[in-house]
Amino acid sequence: MKVPFYDIKAQYDELQQPIDAAVHEVISSGTYTISGGKHCLQLEEAVAKFHQTKHAISLNSGTDALRILMDSAGIGPGDEVITTAFTFVASVETIMQTGAAPVFADIELDTLQIDPRSIEAAITPRTKAIMPVHLFGQMADVDAISAIAKRHNLIVIEDTAQAIGSRHNGVPAGNFGIGAGLSFYVTKNLGAAGDAGMILTNDDAIAESCRSIRVHGMGRERYYYDHLGYTSRMDEVQAAFLHVKLSALEKWNNRRAQLAAIYEEVLADSNLKLLKTLPGNNHTYHQYAVLCERRDELQAELRKAEVDSMIYYPVPIHKHLPYKGCKIGPTGLARSEEAANTVLCLPVHPHLQEDQVQFAAEQAKNFSLNLVAR
Ligand SMILES: Cc1ncc(COP(=O)(O)O)c(C=O)c1O
Repeated sequence: MKVPFYDIKAQYDELQQPIDAAVHEVISSGTYTISGGKHCLQLEEAVAKFHQTKHAISLNSGTDALRILMDSAGIGPGDEVITTAFTFVASVETIMQTGAAPVFADIELDTLQIDPRSIEAAITPRTKAIMPVHLFGQMADVDAISAIAKRHNLIVIEDTAQAIGSRHNGVPAGNFGIGAGLSFYVTKNLGAAGDAGMILTNDDAIAESCRSIRVHGMGRERYYYDHLGYTSRMDEVQAAFLHVKLSALEKWNNRRAQLAAIYEEVLADSNLKLLKTLPGNNHTYHQYAVLCERRDELQAELRKAEVDSMIYYPVPIHKHLPYKGCKIGPTGLARSEEAANTVLCLPVHPHLQEDQVQFAAEQAKNFSLNLVAR
């Protein structure tokens, strides 16, 4: 049975009529990119409500969301920002682009989230910020991270690219620091028809600075500049498209959790290591990940059964050329490296049928048992 990793087209098919109408309205209006465009404002208002933040600032990507947040928070040369090496590269490249130095803390292997003890061990007099990444759809240990930040007077910037709709004790991501970056990259739980992202913040001054930096640093008056900025606006077409899809997001996130529960049940007596959801977290399953020592063989077997899988991430960031000189905290990165060698993500998108997930889970279980027997 074919079990595809993504089905983006099925999302469009489900919402075809309202998407076509919304996109047609923008294209026929002739207004495609404008500061304060109607569709961007509408989306910002809806996402701010969904994540219970005071401000939401629509952008061209999640990468620029992180970068602009750090610029607005005054992070730059001489500063250190503690983050994880087991993430998508954007979390780290944006720190480097500000002129600050990323410092890597290790992760916990039972959640793959950044380890608060490793963060605390990596703090130096230069540390200015912590960037937890809410990896694969569940939030990092935000209680512990907030406590560390408070104790050491540090800024927290949440990389929420993979965790739209995720909450801790009912409080949505984006409320645990000075601001958060969302990504609407095509394959995310809420995916645009191309690239798009958003900043969430409760801080008025940060919001004002982010709004300015996204359009060349322009102030309230046109062609007067207050900051060094970028071209980072969201297009009206993307905003209209995303606004329609947002209406289905909670349902799709719940569906992902239902499908993940099938994996949990079937894989409970496999030889795969399953991950934990931290107490108080709701998991939105951007990915359903398992750990397997013979991961590459498992993936090859699954491929033969037409079950897709992906390796996020095969190499931790500190091993890539541009990041080889980056500072590693005193606890080392043994667990990040082990995760990179053993993690495998199984299909969990909302348009899979139960029998497809059951099949994928049974294949993974059987292969894991056979691999050990061999
Ligand atoms: C953890 C993480 N951070 C940042 C980003 C950057 O987002 P974007 O691709 O929208 O620039 C992504 C997404 O690709 C991501 O997964």
